[in-house]
Amino acid sequence: MQQKGKLIVFDTSLRDGEQSPGVTLNVEEKVAIAKQLSRLGVDVIEAGFPIASPGDFLAVEKIAQEVGSLMEGREAIGKPVVVCGLARAVQKDIQTAYDAIKSAKCHRIHTFLATSDIHLEHKLKISREKCLERAVEAVSFAKSLCEDIEFSPEDAGRSDPDFLVKILSAVIKAGATTLNIPDTVGYKTPTEFGGLIKYLVDNTVGAKDVVWSVHCHNDLGLATANTLAGISNGSRQVEVTINGIGERAGNTALEEVVMNIFTHPNTYPVYHTINTRLFASTSRLISDMTGMLVQPNKAIVGKNAFLHESGIHQDGVLKNKETYEIIKPEDVGVFTSNILLGKHSGRHAIQSRLEELGYSPFSFTEAQKDAVFARFKTVADSKKTSVTDDDLNAIASSILSSS
Ligand code: KIV
Ligand code: ZN
Repeated sequence: MQQKGKLIVFDTSLRDGEQSPGVTLNVEEKVAIAKQLSRLGVDVIEAGFPIASPGDFLAVEKIAQEVGSLMEGREAIGKPVVVCGLARAVQKDIQTAYDAIKSAKCHRIHTFLATSDIHLEHKLKISREKCLERAVEAVSFAKSLCEDIEFSPEDAGRSDPDFLVKILSAVIKAGATTLNIPDTVGYKTPTEFGGLIKYLVDNTVGAKDVVWSVHCHNDLGLATANTLAGISNGSRQVEVTINGIGERAGNTALEEVVMNIFTHPNTYPVYHTINTRLFASTSRLISDMTGMLVQPNKAIVGKNAFLHESGIHQDGVLKNKETYEIIKPEDVGVFTSNILLGKHSGRHAIQSRLEELGYSPFSFTEAQKDAVFARFKTVADSKKTSVTDDDLNAIASSILSSS
């Protein structure tokens, strides 16, 4: 296999994820989620669509200020998360996105314009020539504000590949540094989508100077498969959400892509820097804050993902877990510990369970450790049974998010 490249994990839970029907997050919730994403180790957080509303602007600005330089929990990565704001290909959007993200140490403008004939004719009512001109103007303007520019030809999955080559070659010349290829309506099959990425990488002028990204929707249940096909054909950035939340049937689930790479080290030519042991707690945080329940049989983070019901399976697992488990539950933060945490437990037991749950020993300051311990004792006193991992995660995340 060719040498492995770093996979850039671009999380859009706070932008495309928040576009899930019925989901609205307030500023505090968004900041708390962004902090958790940073601890999880994502490389880029798409924090929102700043022109969309004053609340969205404020949330992106606050994330840029508070999370854009936050190193806590990211020791293994060694650099702050990139904070990204979305903008249509118009100057006002781009300027507003820039104003919201600029205080982050590393910031990115993501501008997009539809390129499929169906969008050009019926939605934008412009010609391909006009589309190309607008895309170049938008990227050039964005480049006058910041270095890191991503461009997405919306509905690329249904666009003419040769028109894509033309527009992508032009925006690279205008300064784009990441080209993101969205399958906006989740229409492509993995073979088709992988083929499209290869065609674009092989034919676009300047292709080697940019990062190729994929952004897949799950309308036909193929988002993860299409994303992996993108990686196999040259993509080095994936746009994903926790639990696969997002418009309609959702976006590609972050945890599914990462665990596919984790379980197939010789299949995909990439490595990642995600702390997979934070998957269970991050999934719960997103579900609690968005109100979107995770289906029990959801891959990786569903509550049934590591349960065995049939006698034959139970017998196999008791003899050797690998008979029916391809992932160790603890690798994704699911624990069945034989130490019960309760009101008699001490600081050491709590600290070590937090580490098992994926929190680094450096995640907490001494004051935060004291606060976790005090809150733990209050919860333990109020419960008849033991303090669960869910309780402990809730305590830890609320203390980390509030300080
Ligand atoms: O699905 C899509 O095309 C998008 C773009 C804005 C990247 O979300
Ligand atoms: Zn999308």
